Amino acid sequence: MNEQFQADILTPPLAQAFLSQKLAAGQYSSVFVLCDDQTQFHCWPALQKWVPEVADAHLLVMKSGEINKTIETCTSLWKELSVGGADRNSLLVNLGGGVVTDLGGFVACTYKRGIDFINIPTSLLSMVDASVGGKTGVDLGILKNQVGIIQEPIAVLVLPNFLNTLPERQMHNGMVEMLKHGLIVDKGHWDVLTVENCSQLELIQHSIEIKKEVVRQDPTEKGLRKILNFGHTLGHAIESFLLNHSERSPLLHGEAIAIGMILEAYLSHKVCGLSLLDAELIKKRLIAFLRRRPLLRMKLRLLAV
Ligand SMILES: NC(=O)c1ccc[n+]([C@@H]2O[C@H](COP(=O)([O-])OP(=O)(O)OC[C@H]3O[C@@H](n4cnc5c(N)ncnc54)[C@H](O)[C@@H]3O)[C@@H](O)[C@H]2O)c1
Ligand SMILES: [Zn+2]
Repeated sequence: MNEQFQADILTPPLAQAFLSQKLAAGQYSSVFVLCDDQTQFHCWPALQKWVPEVADAHLLVMKSGEINKTIETCTSLWKELSVGGADRNSLLVNLGGGVVTDLGGFVACTYKRGIDFINIPTSLLSMVDASVGGKTGVDLGILKNQVGIIQEPIAVLVLPNFLNTLPERQMHNGMVEMLKHGLIVDKGHWDVLTVENCSQLELIQHSIEIKKEVVRQDPTEKGLRKILNFGHTLGHAIESFLLNHSERSPLLHGEAIAIGMILEAYLSHKVCGLSLLDAELIKKRLIAFLRRRPLLRMKLRLLAV
């Protein structure tokens, strides 16, 4: 049921072996790797070391950051693919965070009406969330993910060693989505994550499995998949508010979602029967989690959570 939406999600050592075999088999007329200016520096050299066959690929580099998740970036990549001789049998490997995997997936789905692509997420958020579930796309002005397609890559390769160079704040960003997976589906996962180091492979894998299962049951977000938006309605409002008020420094997506989850847990108490005790416990644990990031203390006070 709905298996067409399920990409293989592979971890080491199968992940490296999969890519190596795909490239060595010669089934693709050409191979392109998309990085941003950070993952080009931090991740591309490591990938070539782990999978030497990839060194022959054409490298495409986009500017990093959400601000570049635009149709203009796509246009310039479609042109580069064209000039580089990409045809319908070419492969695009997206090596980066959620911006690269979302945008690169969209570029691949639309170039020549669709070429194969593989996601290699390098941020925690893209490993546990953005790379899983087939949503691709770009922003339209300040409106996030307004243009896109739901299309799975042929595989997602999760190599946690990439996290060694990920800035701490970005690690926290991804951890929030893992906490969300625990809260919506698996209390045990939530309990472990509030005390453990979330970068452990088993915890990352479990988070991926939770998202994958939700997507399997409702690939096109008609019902169940909406639970993945827990914390996002109010979180996005806070994120957008801060983005549009330049006198205040913006929050990362996960930071805003953590605040959104606290607020929505309270609404769940008011409207859906969540006990006040549970709503308070969620708030206590999320605030303790956010306070582990010193810079956030001030912002939490500003938002008077
Ligand atoms: N498709 C989905 O279902 C889905 C789900 C959640 C989020 N998203 C999207 O994901 C995006 C956010 O993803 P993100 O948080 O990964 O942001 P991002 O891609 O901007 O990455 C964050 C920063 O970390 C850098 N980086 C990535 N990996 C690194 C590494 N290993 N070492 C050093 N630096 C590294 C990036 O260059 C960037 O500067 C948003 O656009 C969001 O809409 C999509
Ligand atoms: Zn999110």
